[in-house]
Amino acid sequence: MKARSILLGVNIDHFATLRQARYRDLSGEAGHFIEPDPVEAALAAERAGADGITVHPREDARHIQRADVFRLREMIHTRLNMEMACTDSMVDFAREIQPDSVCLVPENREEITTEGGLDVVTHYDRVESVVKAMREEGIAVSLFIDPDEAQVSAASDLGVEMVELHTGAFANHAHDPRGAVELNRLMAAAEYAHEEGLVVNAGHGINYVNIRSVLKVPHLHELNIGHSIICRAMFTGITEAVREMQWRMMGQ
Ligand code: PXP
Repeated sequence: MKARSILLGVNIDHFATLRQARYRDLSGEAGHFIEPDPVEAALAAERAGADGITVHPREDARHIQRADVFRLREMIHTRLNMEMACTDSMVDFAREIQPDSVCLVPENREEITTEGGLDVVTHYDRVESVVKAMREEGIAVSLFIDPDEAQVSAASDLGVEMVELHTGAFANHAHDPRGAVELNRLMAAAEYAHEEGLVVNAGHGINYVNIRSVLKVPHLHELNIGHSIICRAMFTGITEAVREMQWRMMGQ
């Protein structure tokens, strides 16, 4: 069996989505008394071997709550990666939380999940100011971008440590002919980002089936996976769901 070389960050937001579906008015104050507790999920994912925990506090707090993120910061043993929009309020929150890394993402209030990558080219100045603020805090910065040369180039110009390539378009077309085109875009963008000295991560829509193709993308350092692991966990429990994804990440 090949040694596992790609790291797994588990995105636990959807445990909070389930909680909020029932207890929206309670979770802010009583986060850990009502179920399912995303912090408990994070600790279980870590015990199963997750290399990091990812959360995406939204401006409208639709799933993970700020109180959850404070508890995670205190309780997890691996790394806390916080996805965040480039807003002043999120910058202030990151200063308070001091995550190990932030991943800057676009955010529209209406979307169900993060739909496209951050347009670093168009919003260069805004992104630059957030990168600078995070750098002053000693927090590593990743940019969640579409697999486009211009976006990689802009990320490189900003001097960030990492990019997270958006695998959503590939995942949406994994079973039709456009899937191959999207996979090629990911492969080319990963190659270019690596040449530019950027750490290459990827995420969004990766599951137990399409992971096989995602592994063809070169230079992958870490995958951030949420929805599919949480769906699997409903049937198997989080421990087995995390272990099985790691097993798939070894090409099994
Ligand atoms: N990476 C980023 C930047 C995301 O926004 C998301 C979705 O919140 C993920 C990874 C995880 O995506 P999924 O839940 O589809 O695995």
